[in-house]
Amino acid sequence: MKNEGYKTAIIILAAGLGTRMKSDMAKVLHKVGEKPMINHVVDTAEGVSTDNIIVVTGYQSDLVREAVKACKEIRFAFQEKQLGTGHAVLCAMPELKEHIENVVILCGDVPLLLSETVSFFIDHHKITKNILTVLAVAVNNPTGYGRMIVDDQGALIKIVEEADASKDQKNINLINSGIYCAERSFLDHALNLLTPENAQGELYLTDIISIASKEKQKIGLYIGQNADEVIGVNSLKDLHQADQILCRRQGKTS
Ligand code: UD1
Ligand code: CA
Repeated sequence: MKNEGYKTAIIILAAGLGTRMKSDMAKVLHKVGEKPMINHVVDTAEGVSTDNIIVVTGYQSDLVREAVKACKEIRFAFQEKQLGTGHAVLCAMPELKEHIENVVILCGDVPLLLSETVSFFIDHHKITKNILTVLAVAVNNPTGYGRMIVDDQGALIKIVEEADASKDQKNINLINSGIYCAERSFLDHALNLLTPENAQGELYLTDIISIASKEKQKIGLYIGQNADEVIGVNSLKDLHQADQILCRRQGKTS
């Protein structure tokens, strides 16, 4: 299974400004530990056996590209307007090499993810022959994350964003990490069906789950054991928290 890495690509979403950071600097350029978040995520991607890594840039595109230019095997895609995570992936699809069959999507603001976890996740996706697999974790405070909605059998049917969630849905503590693995052909199809009919008026990548579910495709829900690894940095408070977790991981005190 490991030798099949060459048929897998990784797309990293890093085009957003990050309004909630209250800073003019692109969110992914903020440092966690010694280096910017985007460098952590690119290093993670480089530790997985794939030969096609694509970084989607937009806001301060030149600076973000400059930060990762030393990394080999990277291609870039440009998202001129930040119309949502689904639109960002759509912008990256033309950069996929021809032989790619599976696409992993990572977020540039999830800096503590380990390569090992991504490799296990890809293997799981391939072994189970899912069309789409999503990495979820259970957390004490799910505020701000997409909530995983499952049916009576425990099968994932959709993801609801915080801004669109009902009071009951907000109580769900199984959250979307923003990490996905999908068959390329399914992504090509589903991304073109996205519409901005939601509270934020964006093309949500998360809507590919309800599309797959309605089409009765095989969707996998992979539950990660370490919530700290998939912390998403949206605010300075999150940045501080990620920094502390990294310090602990490296055996430093903060
Ligand atoms: C997203 C997910 C949410 C999940 C969370 C995990 C969607 C709709 N929501 O929410 O379910 O729980 O991540 O951390 O996908 N980006 C672009 N272009 C855009 C918009 C975003 O490249 O047009 C990039 C951002 O730079 C960022 C990443 O995508 O690196 C995630 O975007 P963000 O706005 O932080 O999404 P969340 O609201 O955290
Ligand atoms: Ca985020």
